[in-house]
Amino acid sequence: MASLQLEDKVVLVTGGNRGIGAAIVALLKELGTKVAYTHRSDSDRQHGALAIPADVTDKAAMEAVAEQVEQKLGPIYGIVANAGINRDNFFPKLTPADWDAVIDTNLKGVYNTLMPVIPKMYERGEGSVVCITSISGERGNIGQTNYAASKAALIGLSKSLAFEAARYGVRVNSVAPGFIETDMLKSVSGKVKERIVSEIPFRRFGKPEEVAWAVAFLLSPIASSYITGTVVRVNGAHHT
Ligand SMILES: NC(=O)c1ccc[n+]([C@@H]2O[C@H](COP(=O)([O-])OP(=O)(O)OC[C@H]3O[C@@H](n4cnc5c(N)ncnc54)[C@H](O)[C@@H]3O)[C@@H](O)[C@H]2O)c1
Repeated sequence: MASLQLEDKVVLVTGGNRGIGAAIVALLKELGTKVAYTHRSDSDRQHGALAIPADVTDKAAMEAVAEQVEQKLGPIYGIVANAGINRDNFFPKLTPADWDAVIDTNLKGVYNTLMPVIPKMYERGEGSVVCITSISGERGNIGQTNYAASKAALIGLSKSLAFEAARYGVRVNSVAPGFIETDMLKSVSGKVKERIVSEIPFRRFGKPEEVAWAVAFLLSPIASSYITGTVVRVNGAHHT
């Protein structure tokens, strides 16, 4: 039977306790992957995966995460840089704290996640990295100058790293979800949600599982072996 060949591969997912990250962890478990994930609170813990409390903005903590995962599960083959936050506001009202929190988490957090593992992937000659960016990073969005800047930067990071990493057999791609039904959408008012849905050709928000399948495809050493430096859009044709 055909398989994504992720059985027994070790994959680290940041922010895997809820939303899109939780759907990715759940699907990877079903595919037989050895999954580790980071979380910031004890709520919504998932069984059957190695859960490690860690904040992606803490460089030393993320170094310790990589060490712990390799000790307990084996060499890390895949990383899903999923943890992210939004602090939306119109630009004139955006505080320095809101700016810094989003850039620190969504961009520096990915640097902190990848840095302890990428050199090891190079040595081993294999690996697949998937960064969760956003439709906002590609086309911008009202009230999201900080968030869109962080997500656009992430696309630049993953495309550049893809060029560098190719010679070591390591692939780096991004997934850009459109509007997906998770806690992140809870801050959006009902009226704004209606307007957004009316702009989506599929006339509905996406589901976390629909993002998870795109991630699994890009992690797979067989399904996406010649794909690197790309951005896969999961957005119901909201942005093409
Ligand atoms: N929901 C959407 O519509 C949507 C659209 C495009 C992109 N995204 C992106 O998808 C990713 C997941 O978002 P979601 O919708 O599941 O949101 P969510 O708020 O449900 O989950 C975010 C996850 O990131 C973790 N996280 C946040 N800050 C962290 C930190 N400093 N250290 C460690 N973990 C941290 C949270 O604990 C949580 O597990 C994010 O990067 C988000 O920007 C979401």
